[in-house]
Amino acid sequence: MRVGVLTGGGDCPGLNAVIRAAVRKGVQEYGYDFIGFRDGWRGPLENDTVPLDIRAVRGILPRGGTILGSSRTNPLKSEGGIRRVKETLVKQEVDALIAIGGEDTLGVAARLSGDYGIRCVGVPKTIDNDLSATDYTFGFDTAVNIATEAIDRLHTTAESHMRVLVVEVMGRHAGWIALHSGLAGGANVILLPEQRFDVDQVCAWVESRFKIRYAPIVVIAEGAMPRDGDVVLKDDTLDSFGHVRLSGVGEWLAKEIEKRTGKEARTTVLGHVQRGGTPSAFDRWLATRFGLHAIDAVRDEDFGKMVALRGTDIVRVPLAEATARLKTVDPSLYAEAEVFFG
Ligand code: F6P
Repeated sequence: MRVGVLTGGGDCPGLNAVIRAAVRKGVQEYGYDFIGFRDGWRGPLENDTVPLDIRAVRGILPRGGTILGSSRTNPLKSEGGIRRVKETLVKQEVDALIAIGGEDTLGVAARLSGDYGIRCVGVPKTIDNDLSATDYTFGFDTAVNIATEAIDRLHTTAESHMRVLVVEVMGRHAGWIALHSGLAGGANVILLPEQRFDVDQVCAWVESRFKIRYAPIVVIAEGAMPRDGDVVLKDDTLDSFGHVRLSGVGEWLAKEIEKRTGKEARTTVLGHVQRGGTPSAFDRWLATRFGLHAIDAVRDEDFGKMVALRGTDIVRVPLAEATARLKTVDPSLYAEAEVFFG
């Protein structure tokens, strides 16, 4: 058996841990060969490969990023994409493919496996934690830790200057990072893509915080939208999956707060810092288990499936089902956090 591995979409801490675990178990216990495809679906599309054996995965467990590279290439939107992917797999004698990615990368795996008979197993990754069918994606815990540390640091400088600090975190359609880091970091306002916000209400919370002589911290997800208005963008170009490049709402909100309250407000955009660097222990643990279970799914020829965390168990769910809908923050979870607002 020869197994191809690729990592697609935005990178996240823990990708290397998945690759290492799948290769270690596949080689040591099942005697499989591996081949890496570079830069997500671009690898099979353009027959761009990298050798992948036990030697190649030594020492990568704590390393962020991905030794295979990543991209948002979409073979379904490329000229002759399916045919080219199939040709590469035949040429490289690949019997099965492990695709490690988020909604987009796994959406492609679901189509290739459901409609075109390509033998795929999916592994869910994204710092956004917005894939349904799994309790957590790896990368999320690291991103939350980074954002929480930033919020802790911002509290002290905000208090020295008695100014509002707005922290913009990632989260396109789902505000999991904002909610978890905002709660863990003791934010005074948390704003998510799932619920439009009222700028006057945000200003009221900010002012009530100043009244008790504390400086407010506002955590906002990049995909959050004001009640009267649209998504705020600095850049309106699209990636190859048709997504706009988010960021800008934090800066916009700080200006509105200044204008409406007369208080000084500044913005920190955490951006790709949340995706870089070494994975947390939880993410290494989860990613390693996903890798071990993905290669077991290959051994069982259980294709068209994604490995997922349910409680402490790793289960297999149909790829099509796993990518059919996003996991967003339930209003009741957001309501829990509101007790700390203002
Ligand atoms: O897909 C996860 C994510 O982190 C989103 O939250 C964010 O909008 C996006 O990636 C940004 O990715 P990039 O800058 O690589 O296009």
